[in-house]
Amino acid sequence: MPTDTVPGPLRVLVFGGALRADSANSRLAALVARLVSDTGATVDLAGMREFGMPLYDGDVEAAEGLPPGALALRDRIDRNDAFVISSPEYNASVPGVLKNAIDWVSRVRPQPFKTKHALLVSASPSLVGGNRGLWALRVPLEHLGTRVYPDMFSLPNSYQAFTEDGTLADTGLQHRLSETVSGFLSLVEADVRYVCLERRWYEFLGDRTEAAITQRAEA
Ligand SMILES: Cc1cc2nc3c(=O)[nH]c(=O)nc-3n(C[C@H](O)[C@H](O)[C@H](O)COP(=O)(O)O)c2cc1C
Repeated sequence: MPTDTVPGPLRVLVFGGALRADSANSRLAALVARLVSDTGATVDLAGMREFGMPLYDGDVEAAEGLPPGALALRDRIDRNDAFVISSPEYNASVPGVLKNAIDWVSRVRPQPFKTKHALLVSASPSLVGGNRGLWALRVPLEHLGTRVYPDMFSLPNSYQAFTEDGTLADTGLQHRLSETVSGFLSLVEADVRYVCLERRWYEFLGDRTEAAITQRAEA
């Protein structure tokens, strides 16, 4: 194969969805980033604190456009083939800060979520690891056309779950996380390299650029 047609490594944004400095979800994001990097993919590790933005307000958008934090997050999503979100669960759902960021970024055209694959993971001190929050997080992302990987990973007892080197104390869970990440990257690779998924229709009706997506599949 000529060297100019050899594809580069996959690029994956790994995003910690909590603001808290000592966030277990930031730790989980860092661990996922290591697992992704171990496969040879290029990792872009990010955290919610990098993308400050006000509460979504249509009047602010009309007067000032999108806030810099939302545009910065859009750029990071655009620059990568796929993204991973590690999110806490708040009241059995998506934390408002994360949903607010998704809402702002969804206002950009072309809408950036629709061409991406996503893996959802969570960490929580509870016994179910924040899994209900991930089911709620699926809804806006799938609505926006993101291919959300069917398998998810939720880490229970998050305050005691990590060893000093940042891996999981429970080797069974560490293995399961590693398998989940590897299965996700295989799917992303198949789509990015072989352009085999046609995207003829998706739920989000606010964007009229879907024809270009179909053409990508036909190329
Ligand atoms: C407003 C609020 C609601 C919460 N609701 C839940 C919940 O429904 N389920 C849960 O497992 N933990 C819940 N928690 C606890 C969080 O999982 C815990 O604060 C966790 O450490 C947050 O993630 P982080 O460590 O990444 O900051 C809640 C915390 C807050 C502040």
